[in-house]
Amino acid sequence: MRTPIIAGNWKMYKTVAEGRELVAGLLAGLGQVADREVVVCPPYTALYAIGEQVAGTPITLGAQEVFSESQGAFTGAVAPQMLRDVGCTYVIVGHSERRQIFGDTDATVNRKLRAALDFSLRPIMCVGESKPQRDSGQAEAIVTGQVRAGLVDVTATQLLNVVLAYEPIWAIGTGDTATAADAQAMHAAIRATLAELYGDAVAQTVRIQYGGSVKPDNVDELMSQTDIDGALVGGASLKADSFLRIIHFQ
Ligand code: 13P
Repeated sequence: MRTPIIAGNWKMYKTVAEGRELVAGLLAGLGQVADREVVVCPPYTALYAIGEQVAGTPITLGAQEVFSESQGAFTGAVAPQMLRDVGCTYVIVGHSERRQIFGDTDATVNRKLRAALDFSLRPIMCVGESKPQRDSGQAEAIVTGQVRAGLVDVTATQLLNVVLAYEPIWAIGTGDTATAADAQAMHAAIRATLAELYGDAVAQTVRIQYGGSVKPDNVDELMSQTDIDGALVGGASLKADSFLRIIHFQ
């Protein structure tokens, strides 16, 4: 059984005070969530404060990005153990915004993912195709290629600590969600790729989140799909009521 994992990627939103207010709202409405994992990924500047706030609660802390080196003269970068130091369990790597705006490649994503694992952080590795790639029938090849490249030199034991997130670029922030059937088809293709690389038993344990305009009104159908094991939520994770509804998917 794969425990569903619902993560909120706050992106470049929320001051410390705003983040605290959001988390207070989440904690107030969370109730019993023993059968699912809940993660919030604030910006770096709020990690320490939110880490203190969620300690001992059912909410787990994640970061949105990490550098692949453990320390050194890398101005502006943050190392994996610094994220551990402020209470992070998870870190997102390879988000399409990092790939498109900040120049991440499959190779740098792989290095970041392995650095995270080396320091006991659990990476959430994002993959996803653009609209032209989907329209020209290349979506599955692109996405499974990103999965293979991102997991180079990752062992089966390490993979147990990796979460994958399928985020079609055209669905991010657009309100244009993939249909549940299209998302399921891609998740199944990702799992088949994992089975090729690691065997079916290992592939069946890996959680694959869907991301891209997940909202209260579409989360139930998405989460009912066999190979969709969670959601990586942007916009709808910024308000307690909408994120709580997503966390409490049926
Ligand atoms: P939206 O939920 O705002 O579409 O963002 C998805 C995303 O990029 C999460 O990482």
